[in-house]
Parts: sequence; structure tokens; C-alpha cells
Amino acid sequence: MSELYPVPERLLKDPKPYIATFDEYKKLWQESVDKPAEFFAKAAKEYLHWDKPFQTTMAGDFLSGNIAWFLEGELNASYNCVDRHAFATPDKVAIIHEGDDPKDVRKITYNDLLQQVCRIANVLKSLDVRKGDNVIIYMPMIPEAMVAMLACTRIGAVHSVVFAGFSADSLYDRIVDCEARVVITADEGKRGGKFVATKRIVDEALSKGIHAVDRVIVCKHTGTDVAMTLNRDLWWHEQSENARPFCPTVPVNAEDPLFLLYTSGSTGTPKGVLHTTGGYLLEAAMTVKYIFDYHPEDIYACTADLGWITGHTYILYGPLCLGATTVLFESTPTYPDPSRFWNMVDKHKVTQFYTAPTAIRALQRLGDEWVEKCDLSSLRVIGSVGEPINPEAWKWYYEKVGHSQCAVVDTYWQTETGSIVISPLPGATPTKPGSATFPFFGIQPVILEPTTGEVLQGNGVTGVLAISKPWPSMARTVYNNHYRYMDTYLKPYPGYYFTGDGATRDNDGYIFINGRVDDVINVSGHRLSTAEIESALILNSDVSEAAVIAGFDDLTGQCIHAFCTLKPSVTSDPEQLMKELVLQVRKTIGPFAKPKAIYVVMDLPKTRSGKILRRVLRKIVNNEHDQIGDTSTMADEGIIHHLIAMFNRHNANIRK
Ligand code: WTA
Repeated sequence: MSELYPVPERLLKDPKPYIATFDEYKKLWQESVDKPAEFFAKAAKEYLHWDKPFQTTMAGDFLSGNIAWFLEGELNASYNCVDRHAFATPDKVAIIHEGDDPKDVRKITYNDLLQQVCRIANVLKSLDVRKGDNVIIYMPMIPEAMVAMLACTRIGAVHSVVFAGFSADSLYDRIVDCEARVVITADEGKRGGKFVATKRIVDEALSKGIHAVDRVIVCKHTGTDVAMTLNRDLWWHEQSENARPFCPTVPVNAEDPLFLLYTSGSTGTPKGVLHTTGGYLLEAAMTVKYIFDYHPEDIYACTADLGWITGHTYILYGPLCLGATTVLFESTPTYPDPSRFWNMVDKHKVTQFYTAPTAIRALQRLGDEWVEKCDLSSLRVIGSVGEPINPEAWKWYYEKVGHSQCAVVDTYWQTETGSIVISPLPGATPTKPGSATFPFFGIQPVILEPTTGEVLQGNGVTGVLAISKPWPSMARTVYNNHYRYMDTYLKPYPGYYFTGDGATRDNDGYIFINGRVDDVINVSGHRLSTAEIESALILNSDVSEAAVIAGFDDLTGQCIHAFCTLKPSVTSDPEQLMKELVLQVRKTIGPFAKPKAIYVVMDLPKTRSGKILRRVLRKIVNNEHDQIGDTSTMADEGIIHHLIAMFNRHNANIRK
């Protein structure tokens, strides 16, 4: 398929990579899949501090859905990520906070971090938060968000971070689903010079209906005036000042939950993906070490949001578990100008830089001069995550950002996999633009024929991607809904974990991810379900039916197209209605879920039994009007012409 890029010379020396040849990788990978219990038991002892040793390395299987690792073992995530480094390297910087304004830089040492985490852990204890309780964190990208997460884990509480781009409605749903009693938030967020009324959104969420929240901890970030509800809201700084800077860690079982993270699936309601402590932490750390070839003197930066899994694993847990210096980036790639990322790399001498294809494409479009004026010579490994990276963007990243001297790691994984499952290793894997290449240790990917589930052996095959053996960091369940976990991941192809993605293994054995095969839309790396957006649209009293599908977009990868039919009595102005519908989606889910186009149509393409044919809509929005295929099962084939006309009219209006 595409051309092969050898490992750049720069990667092979100073420092020497952990895995320096492809043969070495293959040998270790083989060992990891032949003898996973030995492989991971050894790693777990090396990477983690255990309060009580484990006896059984692995148990359970995909058929029963009762996967467990490191049974009997007890540990504490906060101890592993903070205390042990605060003892060994107290003055080492744990977090570099690059604020929204580039002048706002805060450096927090491991010793500072320990004290802050202890104080907030004590605050939580004073509010009667105990082991196993769920705490909602809804915060901007500030170090206190990381402190809050670690404070929960310190006392065995389970955090559920909600991305601060979610609306009050979405936040409310998550608060209710996880039965949280405490919400931790901030007065305001700041991104790209704009303010986000974080606390106000929390207030709005809490006024929506019944929930169990009786305490809200509010961190002062911008210092704006916010309304504080008596007997419920507490200032972070006041509570923290009064709390002791020491709090013992609560050892938890390796299989006790570490966090919940809500993500979108095929059906309407988001699911609380549950990760446990031992296996997750182990692979968070191992993947940072091997996939980013992390060395102790490195400065590691990942620009994801803490509200998504990438922020959890690759800003917080992975790097801190290794005692690294991790950069927390509050801003956007183009604020105050499109040099922002590269200035940051230059300023902090970043060695590993991890971002998303949408950001890379956006910066590529704005021209090379923004990159060229910065000194990026500190970089060794540059990563991409969240969606397929197109070869053009890959090459630009490799040549302009990496100066053809850095390893590009196109890392494939999911909220549910907990850590990266397919990726090159910087010093070992020759890469191909657009390919996530080969599996990480312990991962046995298979490509299945979608309808029969037969394993497609050999190279040069395309199908759906599954994984054939459990691995330590995989999600264990969906909160309060194990059936949904089974039905989504383990039942579709019995004996396998089903990723929901399509994939190709090319003639050289390289894996290319082709994107989702289910009803999940990936816009700029943000996961959304079509059903979730449809439910939001139908909330508008004028809308009768809605069908949402993914279109292609040069910048965001995929984008949202929504088709709506209206109730017969509706006489609203169509322009006005369109605006209302966009607002409705923003309000119900969040601004990032805004459809690119909404078409108000007479009818939707349906089978005679009334099933909406989304396939037809997909062909229409992707301009494949001559490839609509078999329409013999349609109730009314004539509707296709109407839909194409509406689509063309919409595009003509945009061009005007
Ligand atoms: C997609 C993000 C292609 C994929 C870590 C997956 C990718 C979904 C890649 C998970 C990649 C992630 N190449 N596609 N390197 N990485 N994806 O749960 O469709 O937010 O199923 O986790 O993102 O998204 P999630």
C-alpha cells in the first residue's frame, strides 16, 4: 500500500530507545501473547507499588464477561502516581500548566502535588465521601482538576470527569446515572480567550430535577463573581487551606473501580465505562514508556482534554505513574496565533507531543510559517489519536513538525480499551502514513468478516476489528448495566472483544483503521451517537422524525448531517427553525455536537416496514448519488430525488 518510513536515526541514540529493533518488538510481543500471565505479572511488580501482593494474575474470559487481573492485590492509584515520586524526587516538576494565556505558566512539583492532593482528599473525607462513592468532576483544564481526580483515588472514591464542553442537560444525566453526592467544579473556564460559565452550568444542571448532590466544591480560577448556594457550595481554597496536607491512602483491590467515564454508543443514552485500578494503571504506565519511549528527563505533553479518556490515561495516570513531567494545556491550537503548540514545545523543550488529527489538519491549512519559526529540536516522538489520520496530514506532521527526525506514533485505542492497543514503537517500527501499524504487548487483534464473524487470516484483508484475548486495562463493565457491556462488546462476535471499528491489514501486515462501523460519529475525535443527536432534535415540538448520519469533512474527519421531517401542522419559518434545531442540539448535548447541516425534508427514505434507510442518506451527503444501490425495498423511491434536491439546494445556499 503506502510507502514505508524507516525509524529515524535520531530515535536510535541519546537516549537509546527501550525497544530498538523490529525483531526485538516481535519477540517481546510473542512472549506477551504466549505467556500473558508471566508477562504481565512481572510488569505489574515492576511498574506498580502494591500494598498487598496479587496471587492470581488473570481470570475470566470474553464469553463469561468476568475479566479480572491481579486478583487479591491491593494498591492505591494516588500513592503510585504521587507519593512514591514525592519521596524519591520531591522537587521534580510533576505538572507544567500552560494556561490559556501563554504567559500563565504554573509548575507543580511532586511534593506540592502530594500536599494539594492530600488536602482535597481530606476535604472529601470531611464531606463523608468514602471508598466506592462516585464523585463528578466538571472542570476546565487546570491542575486542580488533576488534584481532584487524584484526591478521589486517594480515598478509594471513584471519579467521573465530565468534559466541560457538555451542556447542563448532559451533565445532569451523568450526575443522576452515577448517583454522585459531590460535584467538583470551578467558577469559570477559559479557552482561546473566551470564558465558559462552568459553575453556572453546574447550577443549571442541578436545578433540572431530582439528584443526590448535596455538596459542590468550587475552585476559583478566573475569579469572576459566582452565585454560591448556601449549605451546598464550598470554596475549594477555603476548604483546602483548612485541611491537613497529609492524608493516608486507602488501599483498594486491583479490581475495585478507579473511574467511570461516560461515552457515546450506538443507542441514545451515554454509558458509564468502568475502569478498575490495577490493570488500568499498569498499562497506562507501560504504554507511555514504550509507545512514547519515555525517559526520566523527558518533558511530555498531551493536548487532549482531561474530560476524555486520552486526558485520563495520557495526561494524568500514565505519565504520573512513571514519575514524569506532564504538560497540561488549557488553550487551543490557534490562540493567540497558530504557533501556539510549537511555541509551547519550544518554551518547555517538550520531548513527546501527542495531539489529534483535526488539530494537525487545521494547523497544516494555516501554513508552514507558524511551525517554521519555532525551535522544535527537543521533540523525539509525536503522536496522533482519536480518529484516522490521513496520509497528507501524517506527512506534514512528520516533515514539518518532526523535521523527518521524529517517530510519528499513530495510536489506536478507545475509552473502553483504557490504553493504546495498536501503535508503532518509536525506535522499532518502520511506519506507514495512515497506519496504526502493530499491536501493543498482550494485544491480539483479529479482522473478522462482518456478517459471518469468520477470522480473516493472512494479509490483504478488510473487515471489522476485534481483539481475541483480554488485556489488563480493558473496561470491566458499563456502570449499572453489565448486559449493555456484554451486548455491545462481547456478544456481537462470541469469544472476541468487538471494537466497533472497521480495519484493513495490508499486504505487509500493517493495520489501517477505517473508522466506525456502528452508529457512532467521530467529529474531531469527539464520539457522538447518532441516536443521541436524533433524540435531541425530536425534543423540538415541530419535529416529527429525525435521522442523523456522518458525512466526510476535510477538517474534522467526520461531520454531522441531520434530516428532519416536521409535524403536519407546523408553519414556522424554516430558517428560524433550523437555528432552533442547532441550538437544541447544543443545549441537549453540548456545542461540539452541533450539526454541520440540517435538512428539513418531506419524508425520510424508509423500507416498507418503516425502517429508516440511513445508507441512502449517507450516499446522498457524500455525493455518491449514482451509488445509492438497491432501492427495491423502499416504500417510496421517489423520495430520493427530493432528498438530493434538498441537499443540492442546501449546498448552493452555503456557497452563496
Ligand atoms: C477512533 C479515543 C483511527 C476509533 C482514544 C475508536 C482512531 C474511537 C484512532 C474511540 C486512530 C481512535 N486511528 N481511529 N489512531 N484512535 N480512533 O473512545 O473509531 O474517544 O473506536 O477514544 O476513536 O474514541 P474514544
